Amino acid sequence: MVKVGVVGYGVIGLRLATGVSLQDDMELVGVADVGLTLPVRALLERGMPYDFYLAIPDNREKLEAAGVPISGTLEDLVQKCDVILDATSAGVGAKNKEIYAKYGKKAIFQGGESTEVADVFFHGYANYEEGLGKQFLKLTSCNTTGLIRAVDCLDRELGVENVMLTIVRRVADPGDYHRGLTNALKVDTVPSHQATDLMLIMPHIKATGVLVHTPVTHGHFISVNIKPKKSTTTEEVLRYFNEHPRIRVVRIADGFQGNAAIFRYARDLARPHSDMYDIAIFEETVTVFEGHVIFGLHVPQEAVVIPETVDGIRAVMEMSTDRLEAVQVTNKFLNMA
Ligand SMILES: NC(=O)c1ccc[n+]([C@@H]2O[C@H](COP(=O)([O-])OP(=O)(O)OC[C@H]3O[C@@H](n4cnc5c(N)ncnc54)[C@H](O)[C@@H]3O)[C@@H](O)[C@H]2O)c1
Repeated sequence: MVKVGVVGYGVIGLRLATGVSLQDDMELVGVADVGLTLPVRALLERGMPYDFYLAIPDNREKLEAAGVPISGTLEDLVQKCDVILDATSAGVGAKNKEIYAKYGKKAIFQGGESTEVADVFFHGYANYEEGLGKQFLKLTSCNTTGLIRAVDCLDRELGVENVMLTIVRRVADPGDYHRGLTNALKVDTVPSHQATDLMLIMPHIKATGVLVHTPVTHGHFISVNIKPKKSTTTEEVLRYFNEHPRIRVVRIADGFQGNAAIFRYARDLARPHSDMYDIAIFEETVTVFEGHVIFGLHVPQEAVVIPETVDGIRAVMEMSTDRLEAVQVTNKFLNMA
């Protein structure tokens, strides 16, 4: 059993804890955070299914007064684990890395950390082998994770020469009051970091893209234009997407008109946190135009990085040296058909 700890029990951390606890070959030792946040209050109300470790000792009294049992400090948690999944606020992971290094532990950081924090910039499907046995990985961001799933799927079948994207980025997660009540679009400079990140993970592909922030919280939308090496057809592209376990092809005609419909459907599936780990590709947006493959995809930003992070545990612990075998075990335990 590989022992895993989650540091930073926020939007991503609480989902990583769920994802790890669903894996039969991993043990979730506990989770750590700094104080009595809403996810920690919810953990308490759920009867503390996970042990809680406190990263800031000064807050001990307040947590204990609220009834949160504290199993130890951040360093205590780190010492009990083989791998730490660091999902703290962007930039904190780089500081925590000193603790992980002090105890010789492996750690997987999330997209908000700088790429230099890790030995390998990691994606479970695109470069699993590069993560094998490494001490520190950094996951791609939510948009990049979803984008690379689709691009890698076509790259392995057709070869991809270049990619151009337009990203409509959700401006905040649900409940992020600190981002304000907004009604505006904000345009970023070209190229978006998702395009440059894709080239770091898949250096044989050229990519560029535009990103526009939009005041919604339920998912990003990416319009993708790919120049494949081999000519292809819409039917063939749809077949590849349909065969990919982490891609869900949805039909506008069935009522999947956009982000809100997908989130509502995910709630109706009654999975943990109402999450859907899949990216969704809208079938009616898939087309081949002048030799280019064009499609629109939805990225569930809170859930999409969970499977690839679990792949990261399999890579650093060398639980499987075969990429497809590894991702399939992750998929099985996360109930991704
Ligand atoms: N929210 C998303 O949609 C999303 C998607 C993919 C990746 N990410 C990345 O995941 C990481 C976490 O983002 P998030 O949205 O979950 O943030 P969040 O603010 O919801 O959660 C971060 C948690 O870390 C805790 N924390 C801060 N300092 C800490 C410390 N020293 N020790 C322990 N805990 C500490 C905070 O209290 C908070 O609960 C970031 O790198 C982010 O870029 C976020």
